[in-house]
Amino acid sequence: MLLTGTGRLAPAGLSPWALLVEEGRIAWIGPPAEAPRAERVDLGGALVTPGLVDSHTHPVFAGERSNEAASRLEGQPYTDGGILRTVRATRAADDASLELLVESRLRSALAAGTTTVECKSGYGLSLDQELRHLRIIARVAERLPLRVIPTFLGAHAVPPEHAGMAEYAAHVAEDMVPAVASAGLASFVDVFADSGFFDATATERIGRAATAAGLGLRLHADQLELTGAARLGVDLGAASVDHLEQLDAGGVAAMAGSSTVATLLPGPATVLRDRMPPARALLDGGAGVALASDANAGTFGAFGAMPLVIGLGATLLGMTVAEALVAATRGGAAALRRPDLGVLEVGAAADLVAWDADHEGAFALRLGHVRPLRTWIGGVELAAAARRTIST
Ligand code: NIG
Ligand code: FE
Repeated sequence: MLLTGTGRLAPAGLSPWALLVEEGRIAWIGPPAEAPRAERVDLGGALVTPGLVDSHTHPVFAGERSNEAASRLEGQPYTDGGILRTVRATRAADDASLELLVESRLRSALAAGTTTVECKSGYGLSLDQELRHLRIIARVAERLPLRVIPTFLGAHAVPPEHAGMAEYAAHVAEDMVPAVASAGLASFVDVFADSGFFDATATERIGRAATAAGLGLRLHADQLELTGAARLGVDLGAASVDHLEQLDAGGVAAMAGSSTVATLLPGPATVLRDRMPPARALLDGGAGVALASDANAGTFGAFGAMPLVIGLGATLLGMTVAEALVAATRGGAAALRRPDLGVLEVGAAADLVAWDADHEGAFALRLGHVRPLRTWIGGVELAAAARRTIST
């Protein structure tokens, strides 16, 4: 199949353009006049980009915490109580209803142009519940065309049946991580490494267990306080450290000299009225930067918000629109250690979106109100039914 257009092929900006898809991959890119002969699909003047890569989401939860968001905006602090409230509601939900919730959230993401999504467990906090949530992610992933990368986030908060953080972290490291790895249910392990949640000793213990089990590592780091968790993530070889609202100049320098990606999440930073992470300093220093949604139960509830996240990157984080688009595609793929995704290059997966816009500036101008016209994943176009939004 040969896709052609007279609009922009972003971020490179080639126009007019032609792109040959063979066996799910991009086989050739260039001007239409030089294109190999193949069945043509003309996309006219539409902006075409790689499919968006959302490298940080928490879709497995039941219950509602909108009242907590309102209370926080009236001055209540953000504590582990909110996560534990979601844990109670999620443990009580049966498999079928939880599966439906996850499916509708991922369908919303797909309908909004996300073609790869990382999905964390982390609202179960016992071995049985965490395995149940990871199995639900796997079952939903089988039914949907989007690419799903599962992450085990047993260390999200300390559940009430455990004596304390150190004791629960030992259980996560010694029992849960090996069980998740041997069940083949996760690619990564994540830790909420922040003040009031998991300290450096606990994080290091879980991080080393992940590596020993052959799983990648990613951390929630330096969001609530500057604890040095981002630097610890770099030292532990994490694929990504995420949030970074409180990161200082030393932390930026540590990130810039590493292969650990800085994943920035302007959604929850906005909802929590937090400071914004130092995106400009990270980019100027040469760090790898990703933008992701962090869609979750308590601090940013918008699944399908990646077009908005690009807009927030360009408006609130001081990135150019092109930088924000790259961070939400190539950057997210790097954070997931999938260099074959998120780029329009020969050899990469043919994951593409044609948008109802003619320039990537629309992501900033319309703050999220940019919609896919057509989407391909691995060279296969989404059926109209899969493009339908199911609101959550
Ligand atoms: O990434 N920071 C930790 N976890 C989520 C919030 C989870 C919740 O409050 O339910 C986040 O923001
Ligand atoms: Fe998160």
